[in-house]
Amino acid sequence: MIILAIETSCDETAAAVVKTQKSVIKPLSSVVSSQIPLHRKTRGVVPEVAARAHIRKINAVVKKALTDARIGLKSIDYLAVTNGPGLITSLLIGTEYVKALSLAINKKIIPTNHMSGHLYSAFLQNPQLKLPSINLIVSGGHTYIVLLASKNKIKIIGQTIDDAAGEAFDKVARMLELPYPGGPEISKAALHGKRDYDFPRPMQYTKDYNFSFAGLKTAVLYKIRDEKLKMSDPQVVADLAFSFQNAAVDVLVAKTIRAAKQYKAKSITLSGGVAANKKLRKDLGDAAKKEKLKLYVPDFKLCTDNALMIANAAAIKLQGGFKPVNYTKVKVNPGLEI
Ligand SMILES: Nc1ncnc2c1ncn2[C@@H]1O[C@H](COP(=O)(O)OP(=O)(O)OP(=O)(O)O)[C@@H](O)[C@H]1O
Ligand SMILES: [Mg+2]
Repeated sequence: MIILAIETSCDETAAAVVKTQKSVIKPLSSVVSSQIPLHRKTRGVVPEVAARAHIRKINAVVKKALTDARIGLKSIDYLAVTNGPGLITSLLIGTEYVKALSLAINKKIIPTNHMSGHLYSAFLQNPQLKLPSINLIVSGGHTYIVLLASKNKIKIIGQTIDDAAGEAFDKVARMLELPYPGGPEISKAALHGKRDYDFPRPMQYTKDYNFSFAGLKTAVLYKIRDEKLKMSDPQVVADLAFSFQNAAVDVLVAKTIRAAKQYKAKSITLSGGVAANKKLRKDLGDAAKKEKLKLYVPDFKLCTDNALMIANAAAIKLQGGFKPVNYTKVKVNPGLEI
């Protein structure tokens, strides 16, 4: 089976092709056209600007994905597309494009959840990782701990009650006057941090597996205000980034490990844009090792948005018995839960 997947849920226009043979999912191509330079001016994504950029780029991105995979449209068995969650105007470009393509080549569609794309990206290079697994998904708009008892049985056991982890990184980066996107800038600045302000670790010891990052973000704001800290001093920026990152990572690691113990997980996965954070990868890996568990993390380029993760999730959905649908049945849902 050959699946062509398209992802336009936020600010990356992406297309990828995978080939499936029984349980093996083989990537044939993955093309991502990022809009980061476009959104740098506004230090965040303006939905209308993102949607217009998707329109301009989608055709070329799909053509390149097909060329890189050395296939033509005739070889495709199914189309896959992200139908939520995400920005409605961005989602509509990808879904309407795929619907038109479906009609033109007479192939059915696998509507795919963006967050399941992130989740299963950790399985791409390790499809046989042992279940049950506890999976931490940390991205720009979401923070989930999910339990996978079997490959297609996703159960949310914890999530953020306010800001997502990536959102907190981005908002703190703004306070530190760092460029967009903030997450990678915080981790770069944190490398030079010397002083730890010991910010709060919200909800670290609550019995549930939920997170809260709003208070931590406010603690950074108050520290800047109360100590009249100036962002013109690179050491101040480095110390604040270092202290914020330490607090955020501590909470994420502590809750994930506790969930893994409670649910007797045989492995742990980490995915989503914030999974690109080196400190989180290291600390969670070390903590997992102490519990004799292995942590699986996707390659860096698979952490942030891409269509290979969507093709992979669609293939897993198909393997789980999902019946691809007619284009009339594809509906966009910006608020879709995993
Ligand atoms: N090295 C890093 N450290 C911390 N955060 C990072 C790093 N690299 C990327 N991020 C963050 O990851 C987020 C982007 O991830 P992703 O592309 O998965 O989010 P999204 O698709 O916008 O949101 P969602 O997947 O929830 O719909 C941004 O918040 C970004 O700052
Ligand atoms: Mg994402």
